[in-house]
Amino acid sequence: MAMVTTKEMFQKAYDGGYAIGAFNVNNMEIIQGITEAAKDLSAPLILQVSSGARKYANHTYLMKLIEAAVIETGLPIAVHLDHGDTFELCKSCIDGGFTSVMIDGSHHSYEDNVKLTKQVVEYAHDHGVVVEGELGRLEGVEDDVKVEAGQGSYTDPAQVQDFVTRTGVDSLAIAIGTSHGAYKFKPGTKPQLRFDILEDVSKRLPGFPIVLHGASSVIPEFVEMINKYGGNMPDAIGVPEDMLRQAARMAVCKINIDSDLRLAMTGTIRKCFAEHPEQFDPRQYLKPAREAIKDMVAHKIVDVLGCNGKA
Ligand code: G3H
Ligand code: 13P
Ligand code: ZN
Repeated sequence: MAMVTTKEMFQKAYDGGYAIGAFNVNNMEIIQGITEAAKDLSAPLILQVSSGARKYANHTYLMKLIEAAVIETGLPIAVHLDHGDTFELCKSCIDGGFTSVMIDGSHHSYEDNVKLTKQVVEYAHDHGVVVEGELGRLEGVEDDVKVEAGQGSYTDPAQVQDFVTRTGVDSLAIAIGTSHGAYKFKPGTKPQLRFDILEDVSKRLPGFPIVLHGASSVIPEFVEMINKYGGNMPDAIGVPEDMLRQAARMAVCKINIDSDLRLAMTGTIRKCFAEHPEQFDPRQYLKPAREAIKDMVAHKIVDVLGCNGKA
């Protein structure tokens, strides 16, 4: 199996009522933890790279690590640019072997978003690469962009048909109340997502794959671990997993998860340091961190995404 686009994955996921996990990767242990879980469960996979991850780890290192994962697992794996913000960045990832890119024009006016997205689609399609666009604006932090609480906006279903037709995008990220990072809902309030918007969008775009960003559930076990071992994240709250499962049964074919990986890794490493202050071999704490990622991703594949056995 080689690196693949998301085209076939999304078609099968849409028809089968499940979603593919799109996990953010930054280093070898994260890639290994995710891909080992997917291999054990025979799950299709999207590994996504933000521009920050690309700056941190270098394009070539990440590509070679992902190539190694394809060889080791034999799985269909899509390599996706997460939150591309310029044509030049998308072009560089396409030229460098990514199979899928996101052009996130959601911070621009509607017309500028259409123009930029269309430009990326034309280049990507000429090179056999698929494109994810975004309509609506999520709150939270992604790379250098911070959307303050109250400054986000839900996707307007009345715009989606026009946007997809004029740009030619292959999938669409929408805003229905999720947000980036570990603080998604106010403590003491009941998390809510606008499933009515998702329903309306899917009626207007029959058979079209929808993407959910900001979809970490901020697993309490890892937040507790971080707080127990010297961290300070008391108000971290994520998207309840039953809501993600419901979205995966609907038109959502791609569910983005980054914060849960960070929490699993950081919680486990904090615990290791606290319990074994004498350790100084990085393998001693990166190995359990990689195991924690593997277990967490296996849980997502089976209990949230429903894509086990679908590779
Ligand atoms: O949506 C953003 C992802 O969590 C990536 O985060 O840009 O800090 O790598 P990053
Ligand atoms: P989380 O912060 O909820 O993990 O969202 C990640 C994401 O949407 C990456 O694009
Ligand atoms: Zn995102």
